[in-house]
Amino acid sequence: MGLVRFLRGAKLLGQTQTMKGVSLVEHGQSANVEIPTNCTSGNCGACMVTLLSGEVSLPEPLTPGLDEEIVADGARLGCIGIPKGDVDIDILPPI
Ligand code: FES
Repeated sequence: MGLVRFLRGAKLLGQTQTMKGVSLVEHGQSANVEIPTNCTSGNCGACMVTLLSGEVSLPEPLTPGLDEEIVADGARLGCIGIPKGDVDIDILPPI
């Protein structure tokens, strides 16, 4: 259990209960927060958001939409990232 919150800067855009095995984009849909997508398979980076706190899964190995540096800055991919527990997301990418 937990809560996924979507923010832009300090503004809370929406929130929803954490659902097991469900992507951030789908959590966004249930919170009425749209995360843009394109490939929906971790390759383009269109759905990139910033993890502010909590845990969101990363693809192993990293897909072309990500690299070590932006991951360290909090980048996660909404289409394939699965949140766990309480998670705060800024819907803009870290860069
Ligand atoms: S939509 Fe392309 S990486 Fe998520």
